[in-house]
Amino acid sequence: MRKLVTSLLSLAFVAGLGFTAALAQDDHAAEGDAHAEGATPHYPINKPREVDWSFAGPFGHYDKGQLQRGLKVYTEVCAACHSMSLVSFRTLEDLGYSEEQVKAFAANYQVTDGPNDDGDMFERTAVPSDYFPSPFPNAQAAAASNNGAAPPDFSLIAKARGVTRGFPQFVFDMFTQYQEGGPDYIYSLLTGYQEPPEGVEVPEGTYYNPYFIASASLAMAPPLSDGQVTYDDGSPETLDQYSKDVSAFLMWAAEPHLEDRKRTGFMVMVFLLIFTGLIYLTKKSVYASKEH
Ligand code: HEC
Repeated sequence: MRKLVTSLLSLAFVAGLGFTAALAQDDHAAEGDAHAEGATPHYPINKPREVDWSFAGPFGHYDKGQLQRGLKVYTEVCAACHSMSLVSFRTLEDLGYSEEQVKAFAANYQVTDGPNDDGDMFERTAVPSDYFPSPFPNAQAAAASNNGAAPPDFSLIAKARGVTRGFPQFVFDMFTQYQEGGPDYIYSLLTGYQEPPEGVEVPEGTYYNPYFIASASLAMAPPLSDGQVTYDDGSPETLDQYSKDVSAFLMWAAEPHLEDRKRTGFMVMVFLLIFTGLIYLTKKSVYASKEH
């Protein structure tokens, strides 16, 4: 009887939680409606589109070919504006490159070092232990050349742009282990540029994109188009493929040890399951001789 009451109580509790969350959701919707009549709407206007990533789920793995293509897109296109100052060249060995290849890759870059014995800073060729340098001398210069908005650093961008999914989605996400909000967002942003809808004016020097997290338009012109980057592995040279590859690459840059983390997480779950079984058996054997 007591068991039944406890179960009923927990059920009521869970239902209550769900109901409250649903109410909160309704509030949001109502807010959105109010905003549609002139005030600021809720951004992003469109939810990110979900891509089927190789690194999704508990057994996910990075696709090294894809990361190499993403690196190519980053260096040939995005690096003209976006730095990646927490990622060192030597970590590119994770992508399947040899030490020699990484050395040769780093040698394409110049970095500022110093001060030397005379107290001056100087430029030198980069080595594998250096980090991807910034294309601009400082944030002000970066903003000045980009309509007042500095292109953000890419080291952690894929972790910094998970769009909140709200109830009930976040409950399902716990079970499906959805953690790809960042790359989904970047992919959607890159492929999401559109003509502004009738009656919507975007500020001078910005481009309409309903997937942008902070407003209806952003200061980055569409950076990618079909055929822009040459792939040597036969993958399609399309906006869609470039966007997927560079988003996967940015996920790796932000979380290079994702595979290890997932493997450890899985082992922990297996351990807990076995441990639960052992505890149950112990409890049974300890209480076997007691009366209920
Ligand atoms: C010509 C310079 C330029 C190039 C090239 C460029 N970007 Fe940007 N990017 C910007 C600027 C400027 C912003 C800031 C926009 C704003 O906040 O309005 C930005 C912002 C972003 C953001 C952040 C949006 C947010 O949610 O805040 C992402 C992601 C991004 N760029 C991805 C890319 C990728 C991927 C590439 C390469 C395929 C690329 N960019 C190439 C200038 C550039």
